[in-house]
Amino acid sequence: MGHRCGLVRPGHPGPGSPAGGVRDDRCDDPERRHLRAVPPGSSGSLVNPLLEQEREYPFARLLEIKRRRQDQGRTVLDFGQGDPRDPTPAFIRRALADAVPGVSSYPTVKGKRQLRVSIAGYLKRRFALDVDPDRHILPVTGTKEGIFTSHLALLDPRATRRGVVVFEPAYPVYVEGTRYAGGTVHAVTLTRQIGFRPDPESLGREMLARTALMWINYPHNPTGAEVDAAWYARMRDLAREHDFVLASDECYADLCFGAPHPSVLVPEEAPDFEGVLAFHSCSKRSCMTGFRSGFVVGDPNLIAALAKFRPSVGVATPAFVQDAATAAWDDDTHVHEILDRYRTRRACFLEAFERLGWHHDGGDATFYLWLRVPEGFGDSIRFAERLLEEDILVTPGAFLGAGGEGHVRFALVSTEDDSRDAAARLQRIQP
Ligand SMILES: Cc1ncc(COP(=O)(O)O)c(C=O)c1O
Repeated sequence: MGHRCGLVRPGHPGPGSPAGGVRDDRCDDPERRHLRAVPPGSSGSLVNPLLEQEREYPFARLLEIKRRRQDQGRTVLDFGQGDPRDPTPAFIRRALADAVPGVSSYPTVKGKRQLRVSIAGYLKRRFALDVDPDRHILPVTGTKEGIFTSHLALLDPRATRRGVVVFEPAYPVYVEGTRYAGGTVHAVTLTRQIGFRPDPESLGREMLARTALMWINYPHNPTGAEVDAAWYARMRDLAREHDFVLASDECYADLCFGAPHPSVLVPEEAPDFEGVLAFHSCSKRSCMTGFRSGFVVGDPNLIAALAKFRPSVGVATPAFVQDAATAAWDDDTHVHEILDRYRTRRACFLEAFERLGWHHDGGDATFYLWLRVPEGFGDSIRFAERLLEEDILVTPGAFLGAGGEGHVRFALVSTEDDSRDAAARLQRIQP
């Protein structure tokens, strides 16, 4: 007999249980088998039980290690979190400073029209998309927030069809958002052999029948893998055939070292973009992680649902941040400059890996390198610890879900000097 998983949000009865309280389906997840039994109708806790089994957010653990080493007086070369250390371009900072008002009012969820017009202009320049700034676009306060909260607007925790497909290794927020929204995660492992790109035909029909939402993310964090327009078309067909929302996280769309990356949204599907959403961010494109600004674009019915939901959460983007984002989306020159910096750092590490006979298994995009753990270093955490002994901080693949083990991720967010320094230190590392 299996344990009963007490994953119940107060006030949300579980499916098939009029008294509420039990979701046996979650017990399929090996990570959750340890959960304690909870009688139907009671969470046994004054807080959401999900918090009691909250895994530490992996990056928090990295930052703690970094802090401890810095306390010991060491300079850690940080290639851990994907948080660019380069300055936000001056014209964007100025736009923000100029917009701070004397009297500040609550911003609206739909944001200023000028921001949505600028975003539409970017989408036209970049993807040849014609979108209606009023029906197709919604600003978000960073895509992390947009991704997490969209689960609450898109999933029905009482429905049988509440599965969310996530391809791992992955940015962890798709899983976190699903859990808090009462969805069921269907994790599908991506491997080097398939280029970290799932074959749409290989996805189980039974799983797809239970799928309400599928997350795809190309260019891919953590591997840098890319997809082409034909692959997106097959995924859109799959979503329509099986009636689920296809959500494409495109926050690295402009960080490509080869040809520009396509979007899941194509002009031929305008103006409906039925069942499809794309998420974009200022964070990586314009070194604006601290500003918290991005947008979601796509199916006007889904955008309307998000616009209806979001006022309850209080996640409208501050007006002065919107003005900074407007400046950022209006300009492409700064993106080329940022990309050039990543190109130099990338070359510096790739040369070092090659000299050492180490393998970057990832693709040609994003500011991540996906290094296969070299022979003799054990697993990804052991290897990351070994790198930390040289004061090089990277993310062990094991932190990024199934399929992550066996690799570490270098985020090329430190300066060129740091990159050269780290690349030189790699030569000293022996198993
Ligand atoms: C794949 C992916 N999506 C979304 C985000 C969130 O970006 P932001 O909230 O800064 O827009 C990140 C950040 O690292 C990411 O890697």
